[in-house]
Amino acid sequence: MGAVQLSGLRKFYGALEVIKGVDLAVNAGELVVFVGPSGCGKSTLLRMIAGLEDVDYGRIDIAGKDVTEAPPAQRGVAMVFQNYALYPHMTAYDNLAYGLRRAGLARDAVDQRVKETAALLQITELLPRKPKAMSGGQRQRVAIGRAIVRKPEVFLFDEPLSNLDAALRVEMRSQIARLHQELAATMIFVTHDQVEAMTLADRIVVLNAGRVEQIGTPREVYHRPANLFVAGFIGSPAMNLLPASLGAGGVTLASGPVLGGPTGTGAAVTLGVRPDRLSLAPPEAAHLSGAAKLIEHLGDETILHLHLDDGAALTLKLAGDVAVTLGARVHARIDMTGACLFGADGRALRPLPAP
Ligand SMILES: Nc1ncnc2c1ncn2[C@@H]1O[C@H](COP(=O)(O)OP(=O)(O)O)[C@@H](O)[C@H]1O
Ligand SMILES: [Mg+2]
Repeated sequence: MGAVQLSGLRKFYGALEVIKGVDLAVNAGELVVFVGPSGCGKSTLLRMIAGLEDVDYGRIDIAGKDVTEAPPAQRGVAMVFQNYALYPHMTAYDNLAYGLRRAGLARDAVDQRVKETAALLQITELLPRKPKAMSGGQRQRVAIGRAIVRKPEVFLFDEPLSNLDAALRVEMRSQIARLHQELAATMIFVTHDQVEAMTLADRIVVLNAGRVEQIGTPREVYHRPANLFVAGFIGSPAMNLLPASLGAGGVTLASGPVLGGPTGTGAAVTLGVRPDRLSLAPPEAAHLSGAAKLIEHLGDETILHLHLDDGAALTLKLAGDVAVTLGARVHARIDMTGACLFGADGRALRPLPAP
């Protein structure tokens, strides 16, 4: 299984630069997830790796070979698309066999590969069926099979689960994780869904407007976001980002309360606090107060959205089924464990200034 190296990749559509200099090394056997908002360039970047889009600047190496100018078929990649892209008039068997036959593989070898792949994906009983006689999840499994059967160096997935309903998405997600382990395959998986990214990835590449904002393990991007964009994008509900400063007593909210931690001489910072680091408190112990404007009862937890006195929004994630009524006045306390600080330029302060 091949490593993938992207060096200084740039891409223009007319005058519009959509990929603005991407450097990335994907290790052999690694599952890397590209995540970012719609339109940030995920598909374009993946299609450049696949050879479906020209590279304007930079270079792509796959399995140690410069493939920047190589046609798709010579890159050793197989791509799975959101819309399956199966041949509608062919059975699942023929969809899987098609590429192998075209590559000149002998009939018996084709048959063996198709059947092995079908067994791996548990789609053996679907082999005689045409796509129109399959559910969305079954079609997507056949599409994945069509990629696997070719034994590529690298699998490229472009939002392959986005058309599936929630339950099926979770099931297919674990299938892909299992395939990654069983095939020890290099995989690049694109999604706009950060839960998918967090659960699947060895490493996550967070993209925004054609640039890499951060590359790291799911835990790194969650616990140590490199900047405000990543802080706000990874995690659901999103991290609370509160205007503050570093004062003599430590982090000081713009609304007044002093929270301790690193001290300073008044430099403006943004304090990032995950919703589960907030708790309800009596007024005298509270750091922030506001009105409950939305309450989500999820059974085992309650998501509480506050409209703070200074007009800002604050989200709390509370364990259990918390009884709060809409419009009620709520007081919240911040636990600084795991809190993040960002400077005026939006980058994480690292290392944190000494307290
Ligand atoms: N063929 C094209 N021609 C012009 N602009 C395009 C084309 N394909 C994509 N774009 C633009 O490039 C940007 C990135 O698109 P895309 O890679 O599809 O984003 P994503 O997959 O992250 O949603 C978007 O602004 C999109 O409108
Ligand atoms: Mg896309």
